[in-house]
Amino acid sequence: MKITAFNGSARRNGNTAVLLKRVLQVLETEGFETEMIQLSGKHLKGCNACRICFKTKNKRCVIEDDPVNTYIKMMFDSDAIILGSPVYFSMMTTNMKALIERAGYVARANSDMFKLKVGAAVVAVRRAGGMPTFDAINHFFLISQMIVPGSSYWNIGIGGKKGDVETDEEGMKIMDDLGKNMAWLMKKLKTRTKPKVRQTKK
Ligand SMILES: Cc1cc2nc3c(=O)[nH]c(=O)nc-3n(C[C@H](O)[C@H](O)[C@H](O)COP(=O)(O)O)c2cc1C
Repeated sequence: MKITAFNGSARRNGNTAVLLKRVLQVLETEGFETEMIQLSGKHLKGCNACRICFKTKNKRCVIEDDPVNTYIKMMFDSDAIILGSPVYFSMMTTNMKALIERAGYVARANSDMFKLKVGAAVVAVRRAGGMPTFDAINHFFLISQMIVPGSSYWNIGIGGKKGDVETDEEGMKIMDDLGKNMAWLMKKLKTRTKPKVRQTKK
């Protein structure tokens, strides 16, 4: 089973990346395949509300000059999606918002194509705005009919300068617990998808 994490930070390998890597590390130990995509340096466009995705229903966005369609395909091919963002003015970054708008609309246009995948939000914050950012990302998972596991607290790490979150002991533990809970849930979901073979008495 595959888990893909997206880091919405403009800062490559910053605090959000540290938090995401911690969750992915646990999932790898539990035997899952993982990948992290960093949106830093990309300029993802927001949804232009053309609604062409509702006509074509081809699991693609009509905007083709940025990598969002590649990301949508990666999300579709994954069993779990982790979206990580630092807080910028009490909300997620522009790139993460653009990804959610377009992946979210394409998914809705294609019979909720992320339905029953596992989703988790991860947020890095210096001081305030962690909860609205965490909530907004979770709203994307929930309206997509995805399953959202919890952790020992909300999935937020505290830190300003690059690497600061590593000193947020509780934040790092929340990421460990999130990884464990995701692994537990995904193993359960995998068993459930297996067809039941009934034993017939002779
Ligand atoms: C444009 C911008 C806006 C920010 N706005 C907030 C904010 O509203 N609240 C806050 O606590 N931190 C804010 N920060 C700080 C970042 O959330 C914090 O440094 C975070 O750890 C960065 O994560 P990163 O290293 O993954 O980029 C802002 C940073 C930038 C660059």
